[in-house]
Amino acid sequence: MGGWLETVPKAELHVHLEGSLRPATLCELVPGLTEEDVTARYRHADFAGFIDSFKWVVGHLKEPGHFALAARRLLEELAAQRVTYAEITLSVGVMLLRKQDAAAIYDAVVGEAARSKVDVRWVVDAVRQWGAEAAMEVARFAAERSTDRIVGFGIGGDEAGGPVEWFRDVFAFARENGLALVPHAGETVGAESVWGAVKLGARRIGHGIRAVDDPTLMHYLRDHDIPLEVCISSNVATGAVAGLADHPVRRLYEAGVPIVLNSDDPAMFNTTLTREYEIAASHFGFSEDELRGLVDNSFRYARVLNRP
Ligand code: HPA
Ligand code: ZN
Repeated sequence: MGGWLETVPKAELHVHLEGSLRPATLCELVPGLTEEDVTARYRHADFAGFIDSFKWVVGHLKEPGHFALAARRLLEELAAQRVTYAEITLSVGVMLLRKQDAAAIYDAVVGEAARSKVDVRWVVDAVRQWGAEAAMEVARFAAERSTDRIVGFGIGGDEAGGPVEWFRDVFAFARENGLALVPHAGETVGAESVWGAVKLGARRIGHGIRAVDDPTLMHYLRDHDIPLEVCISSNVATGAVAGLADHPVRRLYEAGVPIVLNSDDPAMFNTTLTREYEIAASHFGFSEDELRGLVDNSFRYARVLNRP
Protein backbone atom coordinates (compact mmCIF):
# COMPACT_ATOMS: atom_id res chain seq x y z
CA MET A 1 0.00 0.00 0.00
CA GLY A 2 1.32 3.39 -0.95
CA GLY A 3 2.94 5.56 1.67
CA TRP A 4 0.10 8.08 1.46
CA LEU A 5 -1.74 6.31 4.27
CA GLU A 6 1.16 6.97 6.60
CA THR A 7 1.27 10.66 5.84
CA VAL A 8 -2.36 11.61 5.34
CA PRO A 9 -3.82 13.37 8.41
CA LYS A 10 -6.13 10.99 10.23
CA ALA A 11 -8.39 10.98 13.28
CA GLU A 12 -8.50 8.11 15.78
CA LEU A 13 -11.85 7.87 17.56
CA HIS A 14 -11.66 4.56 19.42
CA VAL A 15 -8.44 3.83 21.27
CA HIS A 16 -8.14 2.77 24.91
CA LEU A 17 -5.22 4.31 26.75
CA GLU A 18 -4.77 1.17 28.83
CA GLY A 19 -4.75 -1.05 25.75
CA SER A 20 -2.13 1.09 24.03
CA LEU A 21 0.77 0.12 26.31
CA ARG A 22 3.36 -1.50 24.10
CA PRO A 23 5.45 -4.24 25.70
CA ALA A 24 8.47 -1.89 25.84
CA THR A 25 6.46 0.78 27.67
CA LEU A 26 5.11 -1.67 30.20
CA CYS A 27 8.68 -2.88 30.79
CA GLU A 28 9.66 0.73 31.51
CA LEU A 29 7.03 0.74 34.25
CA VAL A 30 7.46 -2.70 35.76
CA PRO A 31 10.96 -3.75 36.77
CA GLY A 32 11.73 -7.38 36.00
CA LEU A 33 9.08 -7.74 33.33
CA THR A 34 10.34 -8.76 29.88
CA GLU A 35 8.84 -7.91 26.52
CA GLU A 36 8.38 -11.65 25.94
CA ASP A 37 6.25 -11.86 29.13
CA VAL A 38 4.06 -9.04 27.93
CA THR A 39 3.74 -10.37 24.41
CA ALA A 40 2.65 -13.72 25.82
CA ARG A 41 0.02 -11.98 27.99
CA TYR A 42 -1.23 -10.13 24.93
CA ARG A 43 -2.25 -13.36 23.20
CA HIS A 44 -5.83 -14.34 23.89
CA ALA A 45 -7.88 -17.36 22.97
CA ASP A 46 -11.19 -15.52 23.23
CA PHE A 47 -12.94 -12.42 24.52
CA ALA A 48 -12.75 -13.54 28.16
CA GLY A 49 -9.01 -14.02 27.72
CA PHE A 50 -8.72 -10.52 26.31
CA ILE A 51 -10.59 -9.05 29.29
CA ASP A 52 -8.18 -10.92 31.59
CA SER A 53 -5.20 -9.45 29.74
CA PHE A 54 -6.74 -5.99 29.90
CA LYS A 55 -7.16 -6.37 33.68
CA TRP A 56 -3.57 -7.54 33.95
CA VAL A 57 -2.24 -4.46 32.13
CA VAL A 58 -4.44 -2.11 34.11
CA GLY A 59 -3.14 -3.71 37.30
CA HIS A 60 0.29 -2.24 36.51
CA LEU A 61 -1.02 1.31 36.20
CA LYS A 62 -0.78 2.27 39.83
CA GLU A 63 -0.28 6.02 39.92
CA PRO A 64 -0.88 9.12 37.79
CA GLY A 65 2.71 9.07 36.49
CA HIS A 66 2.15 5.61 35.03
CA PHE A 67 -0.89 6.82 33.10
CA ALA A 68 1.07 9.89 32.01
CA LEU A 69 3.82 7.70 30.55
CA ALA A 70 1.19 5.60 28.76
CA ALA A 71 -0.34 8.78 27.32
CA ARG A 72 3.06 10.15 26.28
CA ARG A 73 3.95 6.99 24.39
CA LEU A 74 0.52 6.70 22.76
CA LEU A 75 0.62 10.34 21.66
CA GLU A 76 4.12 9.89 20.21
CA GLU A 77 2.84 6.90 18.29
CA LEU A 78 -0.24 8.73 17.04
CA ALA A 79 1.75 11.79 16.00
CA ALA A 80 4.18 9.56 14.08
CA GLN A 81 1.20 8.17 12.14
CA ARG A 82 -0.06 11.67 11.31
CA VAL A 83 -3.02 11.32 13.62
CA THR A 84 -3.91 14.96 14.17
CA TYR A 85 -7.04 14.42 16.28
CA ALA A 86 -7.69 11.65 18.81
CA GLU A 87 -10.44 10.72 21.20
CA ILE A 88 -8.80 8.54 23.80
CA THR A 89 -10.89 6.32 26.05
CA LEU A 90 -10.05 6.19 29.75
CA SER A 91 -11.38 3.32 31.85
CA VAL A 92 -12.53 5.53 34.69
CA GLY A 93 -14.87 2.74 35.82
CA VAL A 94 -11.84 0.62 36.59
CA MET A 95 -10.02 3.50 38.32
CA LEU A 96 -12.97 4.17 40.63
CA LEU A 97 -13.39 0.49 41.47
CA ARG A 98 -9.72 0.30 42.35
CA LYS A 99 -10.13 3.43 44.51
CA GLN A 100 -7.60 5.28 42.43
CA ASP A 101 -7.51 9.05 42.28
CA ALA A 102 -9.19 9.39 38.88
CA ALA A 103 -9.03 13.20 39.02
CA ALA A 104 -5.25 13.14 39.50
CA ILE A 105 -4.89 10.57 36.73
CA TYR A 106 -7.01 12.68 34.42
CA ASP A 107 -4.96 15.79 35.19
CA ALA A 108 -1.76 13.83 34.49
CA VAL A 109 -2.90 12.60 31.07
CA VAL A 110 -4.32 16.00 30.13
CA GLY A 111 -0.90 17.46 30.97
CA GLU A 112 0.70 15.05 28.51
CA ALA A 113 -1.85 15.89 25.83
CA ALA A 114 -1.08 19.59 26.23
CA ARG A 115 2.51 18.86 25.22
CA SER A 116 1.50 16.85 22.15
CA LYS A 117 0.88 17.96 18.58
CA VAL A 118 -2.21 15.74 18.57
CA ASP A 119 -5.48 17.51 19.34
CA VAL A 120 -6.89 15.27 22.09
CA ARG A 121 -10.36 14.76 23.53
CA TRP A 122 -11.30 12.14 26.08
CA VAL A 123 -14.02 9.53 26.28
CA VAL A 124 -14.75 8.15 29.71
CA ASP A 125 -15.75 4.50 29.92
CA ALA A 126 -17.74 2.60 32.54
CA VAL A 127 -17.71 -1.18 32.87
CA ARG A 128 -20.95 -2.85 31.82
CA GLN A 129 -20.91 -5.85 34.07
CA TRP A 130 -20.46 -3.67 37.17
CA GLY A 131 -23.88 -2.17 36.66
CA ALA A 132 -25.65 1.17 36.62
CA GLU A 133 -24.66 2.52 40.02
CA ALA A 134 -20.95 2.24 39.32
CA ALA A 135 -21.53 3.66 35.83
CA MET A 136 -23.34 6.66 37.33
CA GLU A 137 -20.21 7.47 39.34
CA VAL A 138 -18.27 7.46 36.11
CA ALA A 139 -20.85 9.67 34.41
CA ARG A 140 -20.67 12.13 37.32
CA PHE A 141 -16.91 12.27 36.99
CA ALA A 142 -17.29 13.02 33.28
CA ALA A 143 -20.12 15.51 33.77
CA GLU A 144 -18.01 17.55 36.18
CA ARG A 145 -15.49 17.93 33.36
CA SER A 146 -17.79 18.10 30.35
CA THR A 147 -16.89 21.72 29.64
CA ASP A 148 -13.30 20.54 29.56
CA ARG A 149 -11.99 18.05 27.02
CA ILE A 150 -14.18 15.09 27.94
CA VAL A 151 -16.61 14.75 25.07
CA GLY A 152 -18.02 11.26 25.36
CA PHE A 153 -19.35 8.67 27.74
CA GLY A 154 -19.20 4.98 26.94
CA ILE A 155 -19.60 1.53 28.39
CA GLY A 156 -17.17 -1.30 27.72
CA GLY A 157 -16.18 -4.63 29.20
CA ASP A 158 -18.35 -7.73 28.99
CA GLU A 159 -21.27 -6.92 26.73
CA ALA A 160 -23.04 -10.15 27.65
CA GLY A 161 -22.72 -9.18 31.31
CA GLY A 162 -25.38 -6.46 31.22
CA PRO A 163 -27.86 -5.09 28.69
CA VAL A 164 -27.62 -1.44 27.72
CA GLU A 165 -31.11 -0.85 29.15
CA TRP A 166 -29.57 -1.06 32.64
CA PHE A 167 -27.97 2.28 31.84
CA ARG A 168 -31.05 4.25 30.72
CA ASP A 169 -30.83 6.78 33.58
CA VAL A 170 -27.05 6.98 33.39
CA PHE A 171 -27.21 7.70 29.67
CA ALA A 172 -29.91 10.34 30.19
CA PHE A 173 -27.78 12.01 32.86
CA ALA A 174 -24.69 11.95 30.64
CA ARG A 175 -26.61 13.48 27.73
CA GLU A 176 -28.12 16.18 29.90
CA ASN A 177 -24.61 17.07 30.90
CA GLY A 178 -23.38 17.55 27.37
CA LEU A 179 -21.68 14.20 26.86
CA ALA A 180 -22.18 12.21 23.69
CA LEU A 181 -22.99 8.53 24.14
CA VAL A 182 -20.47 6.24 22.50
CA PRO A 183 -21.07 2.77 23.97
CA HIS A 184 -19.49 -0.48 22.88
CA ALA A 185 -22.30 -2.63 21.46
CA GLY A 186 -22.76 -5.37 18.89
CA GLU A 187 -19.23 -6.64 19.46
CA THR A 188 -19.89 -9.96 21.20
CA VAL A 189 -23.70 -9.66 21.44
CA GLY A 190 -26.08 -9.45 18.49
CA ALA A 191 -27.83 -6.64 16.65
CA GLU A 192 -30.37 -6.24 19.46
CA SER A 193 -27.60 -4.80 21.60
CA VAL A 194 -26.95 -2.12 18.96
CA TRP A 195 -30.68 -1.39 18.72
CA GLY A 196 -30.74 -0.88 22.49
CA ALA A 197 -27.84 1.56 22.30
CA VAL A 198 -29.30 3.65 19.48
CA LYS A 199 -32.71 3.76 21.13
CA LEU A 200 -31.01 5.26 24.18
CA GLY A 201 -29.38 7.96 22.07
CA ALA A 202 -25.95 6.60 21.12
CA ARG A 203 -24.18 8.96 18.69
CA ARG A 204 -21.60 6.41 17.61
CA ILE A 205 -21.26 2.70 18.32
CA GLY A 206 -18.04 1.05 19.46
CA HIS A 207 -17.68 -1.91 17.08
CA GLY A 208 -21.35 -2.52 16.24
CA ILE A 209 -20.34 -5.16 13.71
CA ARG A 210 -23.28 -7.47 14.49
CA ALA A 211 -25.50 -4.87 12.83
CA VAL A 212 -24.62 -6.78 9.69
CA ASP A 213 -27.11 -9.46 10.75
CA ASP A 214 -30.04 -7.03 10.66
CA PRO A 215 -30.75 -5.16 7.40
CA THR A 216 -33.32 -2.92 9.10
CA LEU A 217 -30.70 -1.82 11.62
CA MET A 218 -28.16 -1.17 8.88
CA HIS A 219 -30.70 1.10 7.14
CA TYR A 220 -31.40 2.83 10.43
CA LEU A 221 -27.71 3.52 11.06
CA ARG A 222 -27.32 4.81 7.51
CA ASP A 223 -30.44 6.99 7.61
CA HIS A 224 -29.67 8.42 11.06
CA ASP A 225 -25.98 8.86 10.24
CA ILE A 226 -24.83 6.82 13.25
CA PRO A 227 -21.36 5.45 12.50
CA LEU A 228 -19.71 2.26 13.67
CA GLU A 229 -16.20 2.50 15.09
CA VAL A 230 -14.87 -0.58 13.36
CA CYS A 231 -11.73 -2.24 14.78
CA ILE A 232 -10.85 -5.16 12.52
CA SER A 233 -7.75 -6.55 14.26
CA SER A 234 -9.46 -6.30 17.62
CA ASN A 235 -12.40 -8.37 16.43
CA VAL A 236 -10.10 -11.06 15.07
CA ALA A 237 -7.91 -11.15 18.19
CA THR A 238 -10.81 -11.38 20.65
CA GLY A 239 -12.71 -13.94 18.58
CA ALA A 240 -15.62 -11.53 17.99
CA VAL A 241 -15.32 -12.79 14.40
CA ALA A 242 -14.20 -16.32 13.54
CA GLY A 243 -11.37 -15.06 11.35
CA LEU A 244 -10.28 -12.13 9.24
CA ALA A 245 -12.16 -13.43 6.19
CA ASP A 246 -15.40 -13.39 8.21
CA HIS A 247 -15.13 -9.75 9.21
CA PRO A 248 -18.24 -7.88 8.00
CA VAL A 249 -16.55 -4.49 7.37
CA ARG A 250 -17.08 -4.71 3.63
CA ARG A 251 -20.70 -5.82 3.92
CA LEU A 252 -21.46 -3.00 6.34
CA TYR A 253 -19.80 -0.53 4.01
CA GLU A 254 -21.70 -1.81 0.98
CA ALA A 255 -24.95 -1.44 2.90
CA GLY A 256 -24.18 2.25 3.36
CA VAL A 257 -23.52 2.05 7.10
CA PRO A 258 -21.19 4.91 8.09
CA ILE A 259 -17.83 3.50 9.16
CA VAL A 260 -14.70 4.79 10.84
CA LEU A 261 -11.61 2.58 11.20
CA ASN A 262 -9.91 2.47 14.60
CA SER A 263 -7.28 0.52 16.51
CA ASP A 264 -9.11 -0.11 19.86
CA ASP A 265 -6.26 -1.59 21.97
CA PRO A 266 -3.40 -1.31 19.47
CA ALA A 267 -0.67 -2.79 21.66
CA MET A 268 -2.76 -5.75 22.75
CA PHE A 269 -3.82 -6.45 19.17
CA ASN A 270 -0.40 -5.74 17.71
CA THR A 271 -1.70 -3.13 15.32
CA THR A 272 -1.69 0.59 14.50
CA LEU A 273 -4.33 2.84 13.01
CA THR A 274 -2.45 2.95 9.70
CA ARG A 275 -2.31 -0.83 9.70
CA GLU A 276 -6.10 -1.02 10.07
CA TYR A 277 -6.45 0.99 6.85
CA GLU A 278 -3.90 -1.27 5.16
CA ILE A 279 -5.88 -4.35 6.20
CA ALA A 280 -9.05 -2.80 4.78
CA ALA A 281 -7.19 -2.40 1.49
CA SER A 282 -5.39 -5.74 1.38
CA HIS A 283 -8.11 -8.03 2.73
CA PHE A 284 -11.37 -6.24 1.94
CA GLY A 285 -10.63 -4.60 -1.38
CA PHE A 286 -11.02 -0.99 -0.29
CA SER A 287 -9.70 1.23 -3.08
CA GLU A 288 -7.63 4.33 -2.46
CA ASP A 289 -10.71 6.50 -3.06
CA GLU A 290 -12.71 4.47 -0.58
CA LEU A 291 -9.94 4.64 2.00
CA ARG A 292 -9.77 8.40 1.53
CA GLY A 293 -13.49 8.45 2.20
CA LEU A 294 -12.94 6.54 5.44
CA VAL A 295 -10.20 8.99 6.44
CA ASP A 296 -12.70 11.83 5.82
CA ASN A 297 -15.21 9.94 7.96
CA SER A 298 -12.74 9.89 10.83
CA PHE A 299 -12.90 13.70 11.05
CA ARG A 300 -16.54 13.95 10.12
CA TYR A 301 -17.68 11.64 12.92
CA ALA A 302 -15.39 13.28 15.42
CA ARG A 303 -17.60 16.30 14.91
CA VAL A 304 -20.81 14.47 15.80
CA LEU A 305 -19.77 14.74 19.41
CA ASN A 306 -19.95 18.49 19.10
CA ARG A 307 -23.49 18.49 17.77
CA PRO A 308 -26.13 19.74 20.26
N1 HPA B 1 -14.61 -4.15 24.19
C1 HPA B 1 -14.99 -4.12 25.46
N2 HPA B 1 -14.22 -3.62 26.41
C2 HPA B 1 -13.03 -3.13 26.07
C3 HPA B 1 -12.60 -3.14 24.78
C4 HPA B 1 -13.43 -3.66 23.78
O1 HPA B 1 -13.12 -3.69 22.59
N3 HPA B 1 -11.36 -2.59 24.77
C5 HPA B 1 -11.07 -2.26 26.04
N4 HPA B 1 -12.08 -2.58 26.84
ZN1 ZN C 1 -12.95 -0.64 22.67
